[in-house]
Amino acid sequence: MTTKNKILNELEKNRNKFISGEELGIKLGVSRTSIWKAISSLKKEGYNIESITKKGYKLTADNDLLSEEGIRLFLNDNNKSTEIYVFDEIDSTNSSAKKYGVDGCKSGTIVVSNYQKAGRGRFGRTFYSPKGKGIYLSFIIRPSNLTIESVSFSTILTVIATIRALKKFCSQDLKVKWVNDIYIDNKKACGILTELVSDIESGGIDFIVCGIGINVNCSDEDFNDDIKDIATSICAEGISRNQIIAEISNNIVDIFDNFDKEIIISEYKSYQMLFDKEIYYEKNGINKTAIVKDISNDGGLVIESDGKIEILNSGEVSVKYKK
Ligand code: BTN
Repeated sequence: MTTKNKILNELEKNRNKFISGEELGIKLGVSRTSIWKAISSLKKEGYNIESITKKGYKLTADNDLLSEEGIRLFLNDNNKSTEIYVFDEIDSTNSSAKKYGVDGCKSGTIVVSNYQKAGRGRFGRTFYSPKGKGIYLSFIIRPSNLTIESVSFSTILTVIATIRALKKFCSQDLKVKWVNDIYIDNKKACGILTELVSDIESGGIDFIVCGIGINVNCSDEDFNDDIKDIATSICAEGISRNQIIAEISNNIVDIFDNFDKEIIISEYKSYQMLFDKEIYYEKNGINKTAIVKDISNDGGLVIESDGKIEILNSGEVSVKYKK
């Protein structure tokens, strides 16, 4: 770790409290001049650091820059040594995570960016990822942390790990729209894209990538015209994105390591927003309507259409709301 990173780590640990230059110097075994230089460089990067003679330095509570140090601070002990890659901008964290996966990174590795130039959604769609306004995050999970069944549940497990973390920080009523979206007041706040990479030689799974995109503390102006009527944001004021990322990571590790289908399905059901709603879906190229009845034991959407019960195991459904 560089002196600058060590100082950032200490400032993060003491967020919103002053720590004297002398204390930093003794703790890190570096001179006052090195501390001063590192602090100047952190300020240039955009960190709000207050410096007061005789009191020292303070990282103010409003800092929300992504950093490895800021994330690591909130990781659980069993997750402290996970690999973390933080970018200011990137094409897509899922695409980058695949490269780290192919290069052999450890299970649980975190890839996060402040901005995505080509964020990807399901069905080849684009995921709008404005700078500094969201969490664009991917995890690599390897077979050592997967069971055969948890692979097919990976999207649902990622949804639950995310919603558990978000519920800790924001008081809004978070709901899940089957399969992979998190909604607030009938607008989307978070989308999830899980991708599986198989090992061509063995034919088995090499790893999966769990990608999560969350709008954080955005106002209406932060959304472009295409999505401004259908998108919303979680409100986690006073909580850094680093802390949310760490909490999701802790949950991801826990949920894949302790996969219990019954608990997961019951929790997944409890968040659903579609029960008893009329939905629109496509089957064999024909647009159909149905009423949502339940979630099946395998995570499928149980619907009633033309008087018959059916289970949708993939695809997407939409709801029309009465204005
Ligand atoms: C969807 O809504 O269809 C899924 C959106 C998934 C977006 C996330 S952002 C982080 C990760 N990287 C990507 O390119 N996509 C996922």
